[in-house]
Amino acid sequence: MTEAPWRVPLSDIRVDEDLLAAARDVLASGWWSMGPRVEELERAFATFTGVPHALAVSNGTAALHLALLATGCGPGDEVVLPSLNFVAAANTVTRVGATPVFCDVVGETDLNLDVADLERAMGPRTKAIIVLHYGGFACDLEGVMALADAAGVAVIEDAAHAPGGTWNGRPLGTVGALGCFSFFSNKNLPVGEGGMVVTSDDGLAARVRSLRSHGMTTLTWQRHRGHASTYDVLDAGFNFRIDEVRAALAIVQLGRLEQGNAARRAHAARYRSLLDGVESITMPFGADDAQRASSHHLAVAVLAPGVDRDAVRARMHDARVQTSVHYPPIHRFTLYRQERPLPVTEDVADRIVTLPLFPHMTGAEIELATSTFVDAVETRL
Ligand SMILES: Cc1ncc(COP(=O)(O)O)c(C=O)c1O
Repeated sequence: MTEAPWRVPLSDIRVDEDLLAAARDVLASGWWSMGPRVEELERAFATFTGVPHALAVSNGTAALHLALLATGCGPGDEVVLPSLNFVAAANTVTRVGATPVFCDVVGETDLNLDVADLERAMGPRTKAIIVLHYGGFACDLEGVMALADAAGVAVIEDAAHAPGGTWNGRPLGTVGALGCFSFFSNKNLPVGEGGMVVTSDDGLAARVRSLRSHGMTTLTWQRHRGHASTYDVLDAGFNFRIDEVRAALAIVQLGRLEQGNAARRAHAARYRSLLDGVESITMPFGADDAQRASSHHLAVAVLAPGVDRDAVRARMHDARVQTSVHYPPIHRFTLYRQERPLPVTEDVADRIVTLPLFPHMTGAEIELATSTFVDAVETRL
């Protein structure tokens, strides 16, 4: 039996004539693989983030993979990252032959990594730190950068949630050595599949550029235009390229990002005011301030201990309001069990719930999601 459609989906993409026209133009051009639209997207993204190098790739996981390789992470190295993240970061660490070491988060009002525990997790083999800006809220980059600089360790920002977010006025993704973005369908800049690596370091950029396309010294597009006739191979690279259709969609979506983030911010504030003072529900983080402007990728709530999160979600599912969990902590997966304790992550992991959030949500949808949520929590107390 098929289920009734969601009354409020977790996220949603609005398709309009501009997106359709962008895709149609590329298809009609007859050049579909990486070429002029990708170059245009990269220029636009570099301008948007204010860095010299933006390199488009096939997805956010590829972005992380290339960032790790660019910093030289490999066998024998450790990479510290919060367990409360999507598994892509840990998988890419494993795939480059390094060992992920998971650190804890701050607490139920701040789901970003805890710098004090990051420091405890670092050791002589630490080669890099991957930070997440959870839900688009900057982690304590000041603390992270101080530790990393003192230890001579590279910081990679997993900025999949965070395009348009800032920390002390600096775009997220541009503070560490490299920033990695995802254009997956539910992200703030949705394309379906796609990603971006940004960096200010010429050497890191050259390495990402090379590894993205087989370590070859020229691209098919350059040869097609007669700008090159052959190529050499300098690295055992990958095909992590993005195609022209996705790049064209991403250019349109990038032009809408700020407006979309502003709408998300307003919706997040509405959730916050509707849920303020409701027993057993905490909204972590807070409103934007001078130090931190969020991209408001996720509307996450934390339930009080003892509330049955799965039962709450089931009741909301039955009322056709979609929820999710960001994330099952990585250290609980069979592949990633570790000895070092993560008491705060353990404490919050079963209490987090992600509520619907997307730019074109209506006030009625936010109110329905909220009342369904409060009702489900009160029923399950
Ligand atoms: C925090 C985080 N990191 C990395 C990724 C991986 O991105 P992608 O799905 O584009 O490979 C995602 C997205 O799914 C994510 O949410």
